[in-house]
Amino acid sequence: MNYNIAVLDGDGIGPEICAGALLVLDKIGQKYRHIFNFSHYLIGGAAIDECGCPLPEKTIKGCLESDSVLLGAVGGYKWDNLSGDARPEKGLLGIRKAMGLYSNIRPAKLWKSLAGASPLKPEIVEKGVEITIVRELTGGIYFGKRTSGEEDGVQFATDEEKYTVPEIERIMRVACELSKKRSKRIASVDKANVLETSRLWRKTVHEFAEKYYPDITVEDVLVDNMAMQIVKDPTRFDVVVTSNLFGDILSDEAAQVTGSIGMLASSSLGDGTRGLYEPIHGSAPDIAGKDIANPIATILAAAMMLRDSFNLIEEYNAVERAIKKVLDSGYRTADIYEEGMKKVGCAQMARLIAENI
Ligand code: IPM
Ligand code: MN
Repeated sequence: MNYNIAVLDGDGIGPEICAGALLVLDKIGQKYRHIFNFSHYLIGGAAIDECGCPLPEKTIKGCLESDSVLLGAVGGYKWDNLSGDARPEKGLLGIRKAMGLYSNIRPAKLWKSLAGASPLKPEIVEKGVEITIVRELTGGIYFGKRTSGEEDGVQFATDEEKYTVPEIERIMRVACELSKKRSKRIASVDKANVLETSRLWRKTVHEFAEKYYPDITVEDVLVDNMAMQIVKDPTRFDVVVTSNLFGDILSDEAAQVTGSIGMLASSSLGDGTRGLYEPIHGSAPDIAGKDIANPIATILAAAMMLRDSFNLIEEYNAVERAIKKVLDSGYRTADIYEEGMKKVGCAQMARLIAENI
């Protein structure tokens, strides 16, 4: 089969980690006889420098015409002083919206060989951590009305959080579909003791589950409590569904307890099979160009694309197996390095994974 993949390298370590993922995809192509065609498009700071805006029309068109999209990361010091709509991050928010990708799945899983890198106590780590955060991605406060101005000589700014019932229902459907193949337990995270949007969220997720997925149990967890549970004992959670803002924050936290944010991938999908796959970490401008970044999250993102957009299950498993093998052989990038291990750079880590496929 032939697959057309749009690649948005972005900024900072984006180009290095994407190069690692493409190397692995090429190896999968050779082994399983697929042809992957890669077309690179600009996004974020790189697009600002070249075209004057973080999301050029050409990029949107290229993504919408592709079979799926791989993204590195956006942002950096250079563009930190730009105003809201001109920032690199707006390019990422914009492409998610333009592609209709309302559902963001972020699996935080602890790799056995990295147990030592987790900040959790060994007796907790031993029980295994595998949380899948289902984050609503095109609504809420990241896309609400924004204002700023001055009132009585005092400067102010506002960001509006708005959710509609259909928006909550469609993300809940994604969480339920995942959950029905797993523990049939969903934790829904909100702040219903304070926020009106959270009260609508809570009511809607329960009504939806009772009506369409009566076998699934939905537990409500307040977001502040969830933040605490993740560092205390995350082992009892399986599928976690939440809003755009809460999902953004909790997924970084969940990633860190599994060892390193450099290991976590995410898929963003809408109603079709064309998705956007990216690591959950950022562009890490401080280490860009030094060949020390961890490419595993982006390689896993590419693997998720094989599985979730192209239905290539065996190919997904082959990538996961290769990563496990390389980690079990003691190879580590700097972020997951422990005494006695073999330290390798970004390109070398990607080569080792490709060789093990
Ligand atoms: C993420 C990032 C983005 C987000 C930023 C860069 C817009 O933090 O993918 O988690 O907030 O979604
Ligand atoms: Mn984030």
